[in-house]
Amino acid sequence: MVCPRVAPAESDVLTHRLPPATGDRRGSPRHGQVLPMRNQSIARAAKRPFRLGTDDVQFLRSWIEKPLATGAVMPSGRALARTMASYVDPESKGPVVELGPGTGPVTQALVDRGVDPSRLVLVEFNPTFCRMLRTRYPTATVVQGDAYRLRRLLESYIREPAAAVVSSLPLLTKPLRTRLRLIADALTLMATDAPFVQFTYAMVPPIPKSYAGIRTEASPPIWLNLPPARVWTYRAE
Ligand SMILES: C[S@@+](CC[C@H](N)C(=O)[O-])C[C@H]1O[C@@H](n2cnc3c(N)ncnc32)[C@H](O)[C@@H]1O
Repeated sequence: MVCPRVAPAESDVLTHRLPPATGDRRGSPRHGQVLPMRNQSIARAAKRPFRLGTDDVQFLRSWIEKPLATGAVMPSGRALARTMASYVDPESKGPVVELGPGTGPVTQALVDRGVDPSRLVLVEFNPTFCRMLRTRYPTATVVQGDAYRLRRLLESYIREPAAAVVSSLPLLTKPLRTRLRLIADALTLMATDAPFVQFTYAMVPPIPKSYAGIRTEASPPIWLNLPPARVWTYRAE
């Protein structure tokens, strides 16, 4: 199956390392115009035909069956996955927990960053995704279950403070009190100053910035993802 889609180029680098955007924001060059680097990447990618791979088809199927729980039509692109992973220090001690790994683009970015797969604890609701993850990361711990019951779910899997919790859960589909309980549970499982990393497509924070006891950081928008996304990190104050 072939359909036109903006796909991140192999050589694309993290958006926040690119120069600020100028010129035509739609990414279509006017005659003779020299595009800034980010627009060139987007324009190049837009021209390339995009083939749906097995993961894309599986993901799309999951979205058709459970749109709210799946939270996206396609797996995250590389630029977003790498940005998520960039907040995890591969040298830090303890397990790295991933919530909602899906078909594993962020998991792979974590491994590429140097996180040993045996440190990964992958919490995923969808049994098909769990099977794929077990095959791809045989030394990782794959836990099939509801990430919003994090403490109960992980009490027998986590024996030392986690180095990070990296979440792709569609948080904004949940009421604020459920989101707050998730973050509070995650922070109790994590080492001091370890990050809770979350992406959203919305540009508003999934947890209010001024929430007491939590320090929030936001990445610049990641335009190369479709749809554009932002990465939020939360740490205990
Ligand atoms: C937006 S997708 C992200 C998938 C993948 N990390 C990516 O970036 O492409 C959200 C994922 O969270 C999973 N998910 C949703 N609700 C969940 C829950 N309560 N517990 C565990 N996983 C959940 C979905 O099955 C899906 O794989």
